[in-house]
Amino acid sequence: MRRLIGEPDIRDEVTSLGKQIAEDFSGRPLTVLGVVTGSIILLSDLVRKIDLQLRVGLIQASSYRGRTTQPGELKINTELLPDIKGRDVLLVDDIYDTGRTLSGLTETIKQHGPNSVRTAVLLWKIGCSQVEFEPDYHCFMIPDVFVVGYGLDYNDDFRHLPYIAVLEEEDL
Ligand code: IMP
Ligand code: MG
Repeated sequence: MRRLIGEPDIRDEVTSLGKQIAEDFSGRPLTVLGVVTGSIILLSDLVRKIDLQLRVGLIQASSYRGRTTQPGELKINTELLPDIKGRDVLLVDDIYDTGRTLSGLTETIKQHGPNSVRTAVLLWKIGCSQVEFEPDYHCFMIPDVFVVGYGLDYNDDFRHLPYIAVLEEEDL
């Protein structure tokens, strides 16, 4: 595995993202909604850097990758979703790759009556988008490689790594 982004760089970028969000959402009824499972590390670090009154919630999405590094069919589960009627929602995920997860989730969330929906990701994979939709906030642009750590998994392993690493052929 090759280390791509280290802990101090992640900490700095997440801190400035939190400051930016606090400025942009000041005075608004913010709900930060994390996508289970990949966003949980970013979600917990980010909300503690947003100096505002806010609520935290979760929504589940999976694209059934398993032992592949290619996306599959998007499944959304709203059982964990809190009441977001009239609230400004910031949807947080680990990575924007094809964009199908964030764009599908945004459509689903809009059906639950929020005042607005914005999106934030740690990583934006350059040149992989298959949709018109783009995230409003991101910390790092990365090339088209398969990464793990800081919430991102391969077959449910490696989410706990405090840094972002590139998974190479020999790691699979
Ligand atoms: P998208 O729908 O193609 O944008 O992919 C989003 C989801 O795919 C993310 O929430 C991740 O769970 C997963 N994913 C995409 N790229 C990677 C990667 O490089 N490593 C691990 N998971 C990834
Ligand atoms: Mg995920």
